[in-house]
Amino acid sequence: MRRSLLVGVGGYLPDRVMSNAELASQVDTSDQWIVERTGIHRRHIAAEGQRTSDLALEASRRALAHAKMDAGDIDLIVLATATPDLTFPATAARVQAALGITAGAAFDLQAVCSGFVFALATADNALRLGQAKAALVIGAETFSRIVDWTDRGTCILFGDGAGAVVLRAEDAAGDRGIISTFLRTDGRHHDLLYVDGGPSQTQSTGHLRMQGNAVFRQAVEHISGAMIEACRRGGVALDEIDWFVPHQANQRILDGVARRLGISGDKVITTVAEHGNTSAASVPLALSVGVADGRIKPGHLVLMEALGGGLTWGAALVRL
Ligand code: ACO
Repeated sequence: MRRSLLVGVGGYLPDRVMSNAELASQVDTSDQWIVERTGIHRRHIAAEGQRTSDLALEASRRALAHAKMDAGDIDLIVLATATPDLTFPATAARVQAALGITAGAAFDLQAVCSGFVFALATADNALRLGQAKAALVIGAETFSRIVDWTDRGTCILFGDGAGAVVLRAEDAAGDRGIISTFLRTDGRHHDLLYVDGGPSQTQSTGHLRMQGNAVFRQAVEHISGAMIEACRRGGVALDEIDWFVPHQANQRILDGVARRLGISGDKVITTVAEHGNTSAASVPLALSVGVADGRIKPGHLVLMEALGGGLTWGAALVRL
């Protein structure tokens, strides 16, 4: 059976670091409040002129190097972002050109913080159907451009970054590769987390708006459900999972899900303290950290999950 093998991963964070103390000098907040409510200590901010595609490109190069593959091997790019360089063309097109890729397709996908899981499922489907041989799946964001830096309820949460994985179609994958995916959207909650601008409605970029409490309540319930469903589809029990690689939104959401499902915290890759919520970039960023520091090894069973604006949520079960 043809499967998508996950053969490389890379992450990139911009150089500039903004600490909680620096934020507290701009809005009415404190390091203690932010750490207690979110677990976030710092976030990275893209330099002036540094675009989402620049972050995506660096993460992609690192993922290709890790996979020991050339850009010319790639014939599909799916780039998840809610902060594209431009309204169009797709940020993926710019990344494709910068990598010198002239084959196959490249497009953006928009599912906000769930974007990477949605992109992974989309690329997996294409590879298993024989529509492509190797894919770059990227999550890249510059949320610093759309947060309202005067709103202490939201500006403390987000940061910029990118992560990427390389998938390769393999006919004799054995038990390795992407085993199952699960995606959901419930558009009835579109106004819990949104940007109050856009080309069609306001002809402007707008700023992020969020009902934090309501998102929090939805997050723990839906993320837990998605993880259980991905395991059910994959024929795997939760206690067989070696590593949980969640969307890094908030330490309290991570703890809530782990408590609900009886997961030990030492099986969860947690990076939110170091870069805050990087939306679609956070899952591949966390995966890249777990792989680079040797915790996640070839053969390990990994469960990724995310929830974001839409509301969208999903999970993906992979054996590396
Ligand atoms: N510093 C100090 N005080 C603050 C801050 C701040 N940065 N932000 C809000 N407050 C105040 C509020 O004004 C309020 O004050 P009041 O009681 O005098 O009115 C008080 O703190 C409590 O506010 P709440 O909004 O109830 O605080 P809560 O405990 O819910 O924490 C938070 C807010 C951190 C946003 C939380 O709701 C949350 O994490 N929600 C999840 C949202 C999320 O992670 N979204 C990311 C996108 S979706 C995703 O990725 C899963």
